[in-house]
Amino acid sequence: MAPPIYRPRRLRDKALLRKMVRETALSSDDLIYPLFVVHGRGLRQPIAPMPGQYRLSVDEVVKEAKDAASMGIPAVLLFGIPEDKDPRGSEAYADEGIVQQATRAIKDTVPDLLVITDVCLCEYTSHGHCGVVEDGRVKNDPTLELLARTAVSHAEAGADLVAPSDMMDGRVAAIREALDEGGFGDTPIMAYSAKYASSFYGPFREAAGSTPQFGDRRSYQMDPANVVEALREVALDIDEGADIVMVKPALPYLDVVSRVKAEFGLPLAAYSVSGEYAMIRAAGTLGWLDEERAMMEALVSIRRAGADLVITYFAKDAARRLESRRA
Ligand code: PBG
Repeated sequence: MAPPIYRPRRLRDKALLRKMVRETALSSDDLIYPLFVVHGRGLRQPIAPMPGQYRLSVDEVVKEAKDAASMGIPAVLLFGIPEDKDPRGSEAYADEGIVQQATRAIKDTVPDLLVITDVCLCEYTSHGHCGVVEDGRVKNDPTLELLARTAVSHAEAGADLVAPSDMMDGRVAAIREALDEGGFGDTPIMAYSAKYASSFYGPFREAAGSTPQFGDRRSYQMDPANVVEALREVALDIDEGADIVMVKPALPYLDVVSRVKAEFGLPLAAYSVSGEYAMIRAAGTLGWLDEERAMMEALVSIRRAGADLVITYFAKDAARRLESRRA
């Protein structure tokens, strides 16, 4: 039998050649680094299920932001842990809210780093839901005004982009309108468009103390079994004015990432969430897999599926790794 004309191994034999024909590039330019901010000073509280991640006071978050910027990471994504939680999540839209303070401090010290703020109420509400609760139900439309106020107050503090993660219907339009009216017509919205009701948010909820006090988030976050619905969600957010759309989580939803990219082609972010980070860290710590290789493989896979931007708690580790490969 004649040998096949195309022998794929020809291009795999030499490291330099493998590099030349590589289809997907991962660069630190694509990374977004999530950070948790708390009230206080000099605080660096470890988050148990997310080894290597901390709840940081404003002075510490500034150091972390500086560090990230010096490694070539272009953006951080801020989550706040408030002093007090109440039913309407009032610290979310307070002038002196923790995210507002952190945003001002980072923009003062590291002006070239982009600050993206997570716009949601669940970290701030006493019941832990992402919206206003009436009669035991999460109410959609009364929540929109509070989300819009939150986004405007983040923009006033200097946020470069706002990222609504609540999954209320119509929130992108409400936020766009409020930003425009507030004189922030140039502030882009990165919308968590296809956000699933996922068990992989567990470590985050421990970090932010945002576990719902009753019920769960399935009345507003998406059913993991659905993908056609994800495309409708994305189309809706684009219609309402989203500049960047997002799929979340990332690894168990790469088919969704791929479909969204193929269908819309617009700038797409994928959020590799706390549970994805925890799994790789845990298996690495146990010696069950090579943590660094698993991390890089996961990140390049998310890019290969079609994500332009990857939100990851591994941002600094990956940037360090990419830098050392270049050297
Ligand atoms: C807030 C929000 C959550 C995450 C990002 N924004 C938690 C949730 O929806 O319960 C999760 C991020 C992660 O797990 O890393 N709504």
